[in-house]
Amino acid sequence: MKLTVNGQTHDIDVDPDTPLLYVLREDLGLNAAKYGCGLGQCGACTVLIDNRAAFSCVTPVVALEDKHILTLESLGTATNPGPLQRAFIDAQAAQCGYCTAGMMLRAEALLRRNPRPSDVEIRTALQPNLCRCGTHMRILSAVRRAAVAMQAAAEAGG
Ligand code: FES
Ligand code: FES
Repeated sequence: MKLTVNGQTHDIDVDPDTPLLYVLREDLGLNAAKYGCGLGQCGACTVLIDNRAAFSCVTPVVALEDKHILTLESLGTATNPGPLQRAFIDAQAAQCGYCTAGMMLRAEALLRRNPRPSDVEIRTALQPNLCRCGTHMRILSAVRRAAVAMQAAAEAGG
């Protein structure tokens, strides 16, 4: 089957029930999404599917042939981080970092549909993703920073 990830279409040969997370990590070498619970309960595996945040550990690839999947790798690189990644770095919004990719993708989904979220809207949007290190306040701060930076960039771009 064909799977479109970060704008690239891949031919993959896997059991249709294989969870997207396994295909990303094992077949496509995209390791940002993490395996936490495998049960749709922690958010470590969050990716965007057609701009909506989804748990890739419980999403079988068979459902995704016509969808556009985005992983953290699409938001920037270590040497050229995107605005959301830059905001997480500036806010020091990670301790162990295991939740971070999922948090960023969940925040990206929010900022795509609501570029100026309130604190309550950020908290509500991020609720499905857990952080066992208690970095929540810094994550909140990072998403606020990212919203301001992205808004400023959009206004500067016309
Ligand atoms: S690993 Fe997918 S929700 Fe926990
Ligand atoms: S930074 Fe460790 S789980 Fe969130």
